[in-house]
Amino acid sequence: MRWLVWALCASASVASATPPVQRVKPYAVVGDAIEQSLTGQAGNATRGAELIQQRHKSLCVLCHSGPFPDRHLQGTLAPDLTGIGERLSAGQLRLRIVDMKRLNPDSIMPTYYGIATNSKDSRIADGWRGKPVLTAEEIEDLVAYLQTLRP
Ligand code: HEC
Repeated sequence: MRWLVWALCASASVASATPPVQRVKPYAVVGDAIEQSLTGQAGNATRGAELIQQRHKSLCVLCHSGPFPDRHLQGTLAPDLTGIGERLSAGQLRLRIVDMKRLNPDSIMPTYYGIATNSKDSRIADGWRGKPVLTAEEIEDLVAYLQTLRP
């Protein structure tokens, strides 16, 4: 999946000498969930609905299908997200988006809230170096939206 992120973001940038800014704040995992909002606030479901469909930013619909417009453009590599708000709590949704690999180390789902460990790799465009794929706010928006998905 990393190649895809690189491909999407590659901008032939020159490596910067500035050390990466740590933008991922610590969070507590309890069981299979992160109970606390990453921002301390509830997300915005309307923004989450838009973000989930942005194939080049969130990438979600490359793998997942769900009750989103453009059904034919949705992926089949991952579970359908229809009704996910009934099956998983906000905390469970949050951990899955933040770092699915904690639950399944072999998962192909990207870690959305973690920084690339391979930060010396010049293929990571400057704008992405040391930054999570999605911000804490964006993850909270997705959690808020996914909670509205009921069967
Ligand atoms: C590269 C493919 C891929 C992408 C991109 C991806 N996922 Fe996933 N996702 C998976 C797979 C595969 C699973 C099944 C769990 C596993 O990997 O063990 C999963 C599981 C989930 C689950 C739990 C589903 C369930 O039924 O328990 C949620 C929620 C989820 N993904 C949300 C998202 C969101 C939101 C995004 C975008 C921010 C996203 N995923 C992007 C592959 C992907």
